[in-house]
Amino acid sequence: MKKIKLLGICTSIRGRESGTYYLMKMAFDALKEEGVEKEIIVASELNLRPCEHHYSINAKMCVHPCLITQIDEKDEMARIYDGILNSDVVIFGTPIHWGNHSQLMQLIVERLNSLENANSVHGQIVVKNKVGGLMILGHEDGYQHVAGGLMNFLTAMGLIFPPQAYAAWVGESNEDTKSDQKRIESDKTIHEIFIDLVENAVNFARAILACPSCGHELDYIHQSKKKNYSK
Ligand SMILES: Cc1cc2nc3c(=O)[nH]c(=O)nc-3n(C[C@H](O)[C@H](O)[C@H](O)COP(=O)(O)O)c2cc1C
Repeated sequence: MKKIKLLGICTSIRGRESGTYYLMKMAFDALKEEGVEKEIIVASELNLRPCEHHYSINAKMCVHPCLITQIDEKDEMARIYDGILNSDVVIFGTPIHWGNHSQLMQLIVERLNSLENANSVHGQIVVKNKVGGLMILGHEDGYQHVAGGLMNFLTAMGLIFPPQAYAAWVGESNEDTKSDQKRIESDKTIHEIFIDLVENAVNFARAILACPSCGHELDYIHQSKKKNYSK
């Protein structure tokens, strides 16, 4: 059986102290399946330079590898590019901040534009046959909006989402955030939901990467080939 590489990217600025990291690590640790190689990138531990929006000057200037990656040795976004390109399943974790994903997640989305642009502008499919998933944590509300926004970008980048591709936790409509960590750690149902998300994503990846009955690999042609953006 093909080995599956499972990558988690935690984008809470609170890093390993965050609820997002706690649930991601718990769910990754719970997956005991053999043949799955697991890694979690804690994005707050990396030196990530913000996107400089070369796309807005000329779409063709947004390339993979990203221009910042090419010129700035201190920038560590290559960890995330390589992590995604070497994985079969990529799970992003984000807290909710005023109804949106985290600022670190937004920085990463903008830097990942180069992978999306490789396809839509340069006609090369770089991200292919990779399954996505989302872990979203709030205190009050907003996770469906966050899931919608991120799935919009991540499918454009090339990830494939199975049904119910996100797991979320929010507390109640009050300001008592100090109880959240305890509640997150003791809620076994939420643990199961996050574990299910990871298991489903891995199973889905196994099913699509190679059709066991027919031996074919999944293939598709992107619209960019038809639109000829690169001409
Ligand atoms: C500036 C800020 C804005 C926030 N906005 C929201 C929000 O719109 N909706 C929500 O449910 N929680 C909101 N929260 C609460 C966090 O999403 C929540 O505490 C979350 O569990 C933190 O996750 P973390 O520990 O992984 O960072 C906000 C927190 C901060 C600091």
